[in-house]
Amino acid sequence: MSSSKQDGVVAAKGRDNAEDPDIFRPFERLIEITIRGKAYNVPENNTILRCLQFLELQRISEAELCWNGTCQNCTVRVVENGRSRTAMSCRTDAKAGMAIEDINPAIDI
Ligand code: FES
Repeated sequence: MSSSKQDGVVAAKGRDNAEDPDIFRPFERLIEITIRGKAYNVPENNTILRCLQFLELQRISEAELCWNGTCQNCTVRVVENGRSRTAMSCRTDAKAGMAIEDINPAIDI
């Protein structure tokens, strides 16, 4: 896995999880997203669900998730460019500046 975490911008909660292996798509840097108004740094090129896993590996890993768009347990309310929408976090890539306003209770961190 190619990753870069040397710049110290990893969110404190994500630091240990970032060392966890090959569940993430390769990334060179972290991007900032907000979750309920709080900023987090997560790996670029990864789905929102993987980014949530980056922040809370254990908790997300224990949730009942299909990872293929079927169960709907991973829904999040996302705001981008001033527009709010519901998205399946397993199918939607996180983007820098993305704001997540709400998270399905099944994966709520
Ligand atoms: S994990 Fe089941 S729909 Fe996303």
